[in-house]
Amino acid sequence: MARIVQPDAAGIAEAVDALRRGEVIGLPTETVYGLAADATNDTAVRRIFSVKGRPETHPLIVHVAEAIELANLTTEVTPLTRALTQTFWPGPLTVIVRANQKVSRAVTGGRDTVAVRCPAHPVAHAVIHALGCPVAAPSANRFGAVSPTTATHVVVDLGNDIDIVLDGGECEIGLESTIIDCTSDSLEVLRPGAVTVEQLHTLTATLSDSSEQRVSDGTASESRAPGMMQSHYAPRARLVLHEPGDHFDTDGAPVLDFSGDLSTAAHTLYARLRALDASHIALAHVIVPPPGGLGQAIRDRLTKAAAGG
Ligand code: TXA
Ligand code: MG
Repeated sequence: MARIVQPDAAGIAEAVDALRRGEVIGLPTETVYGLAADATNDTAVRRIFSVKGRPETHPLIVHVAEAIELANLTTEVTPLTRALTQTFWPGPLTVIVRANQKVSRAVTGGRDTVAVRCPAHPVAHAVIHALGCPVAAPSANRFGAVSPTTATHVVVDLGNDIDIVLDGGECEIGLESTIIDCTSDSLEVLRPGAVTVEQLHTLTATLSDSSEQRVSDGTASESRAPGMMQSHYAPRARLVLHEPGDHFDTDGAPVLDFSGDLSTAAHTLYARLRALDASHIALAHVIVPPPGGLGQAIRDRLTKAAAGG
């Protein structure tokens, strides 16, 4: 069974040693916990897929300690990508860029593009910095299940298959990063997150050549965003969604209200969905937030959770 390790100097050193040996570990970030391996070690990367039960064609996010390391992974950092990373890194933003030859195709699922993120969590930063190379990490849940936002969630899901989970406390944001495809002149949001479409519009409006519409959050196709289209983020409980102010009969089923403070709603979302399953609840009513700002990402996850239960 995996041990929860405190992230003091000894704990960080133990985690880094495990990564150097090609093991996979539970790693806290500000979004959700990741299942991390040395991104330059193909055997270790393959272990991520087998532990998670994830198809090897679903690409992983490469996590770097410093924004400057993006240049080591891509053929070209475009001005638009640079503006994005300068504004939002370290933080909950993943950019999809063209991969150079140094990026293992085991990480990209055979693609010529790579997803890169520079997390803001001090423990993630300390580990990647000490390791001295990027780590590949998907969310540390079993494939198709709700993402983990505490070290205990990781142990519950994957405790039999990994040795160490570094304890970074509850993830501050609680939702996976915003993913943006930066491989063309416009930005396409493949997964909404805590970096919002409104913030992206504000940024692109300040850039000199922003004559055209440069941010799209159209429905991403399965080929553009592999693994994001299916019923993901799903608890076993069936969820019935309602807009704020809707009248409905609960029939005695619990009601989860996410229409209040959006940061709190995101921070508690996955723990509350996990709690439904822990108490063997078959059906729950969910009040979704309005779609603006962080509300878009919360609605996205709840819609997927409701489709899969
Ligand atoms: O907040 C997060 O992003 C967390 C933490 C651990 O950093 N990670 C995370 O990873 O959510 P994961 O694997 O659960 O989701 C990554 C998504 C996948 O749906 C994958 O399809 C997409 O990123 N992705 C990765 N590389 C891609 C690429 N080259 N092109 C398109 N989509 C890509
Ligand atoms: Mg995931």
